[in-house]
Amino acid sequence: MDIPNRNAPLGVFDSGVGGLTVVKALRKLLPKESIVYLGDTARVPYGSKSPDTIRQFAMEDTQFLVSKGVKAVVVACNTATAHALPLLEATFRVPVIGVLEPGVEATLEDDQCSRVGVIGTEGTIRSHAYQHMLALRRPDVRIHAISTPLLVPFVEAGWLKHDSLKLVLETYLNPLLDKGIDTLVLGCTHYPLLIPVLRKVLGPSVRLVDSASTCATQVSRRLKEEGLLSTGRRKPSLDLYLTDLSEQAEELARRFLGAETRKIQRARLS
Ligand code: DGL
Repeated sequence: MDIPNRNAPLGVFDSGVGGLTVVKALRKLLPKESIVYLGDTARVPYGSKSPDTIRQFAMEDTQFLVSKGVKAVVVACNTATAHALPLLEATFRVPVIGVLEPGVEATLEDDQCSRVGVIGTEGTIRSHAYQHMLALRRPDVRIHAISTPLLVPFVEAGWLKHDSLKLVLETYLNPLLDKGIDTLVLGCTHYPLLIPVLRKVLGPSVRLVDSASTCATQVSRRLKEEGLLSTGRRKPSLDLYLTDLSEQAEELARRFLGAETRKIQRARLS
């Protein structure tokens, strides 16, 4: 088997630009790594699609990154990880790392946690992937998983401080608070942007687990294990590709990535 080049870039994909939360966390933790990012903005959202369609899209996204010579692929999308990770791992030679397992690990790091809420897209929650992984490792933990499909549109519209967002969050989360959750897993790329308002709705005692930063930790560990951490001396690059380019997507990409502005290229998937 060919050994991937440790100085090749890391590939990251998501259904849209939300996965840039993972890119941001990766660049903070692994500043020497170059990254090629693919956002499938032409076909977002994945969260409401069928498992077969999600798997097909994830295969095409990974193929695109592999064709760019990446040394490993990070599936930043929770929905794609939930439905397609085993297929991608079985199909591609490069290591493929998803966002779910790091989220589960981070959740269980606190061995006091006993009632865990999980929020995500319909696809993620319906797959039961988080629920299974959590239950397998800690059968004693009570899990309350709900899909929260209205949250992605709020984030995409930039309505992060709107009163209606607070109302929607209360409607979704009050039943979880009534069940006494001590931890809430943010099982979607977009949710880290909601942390300030989530704090207000949930109060200080519920621990929030953000899969973006925990995923970066797992990627770092996996690259180390596989001898794939970059030793390159050149300034690391960040290449952004979207399958549909629009002003809104570019604006949103900036919001997710922070201050940096980058040229975004159009990706054509085969
Ligand atoms: N990226 C998706 C996820 O993390 C959210 C957006 C979508 O539905 O495609 O599940």
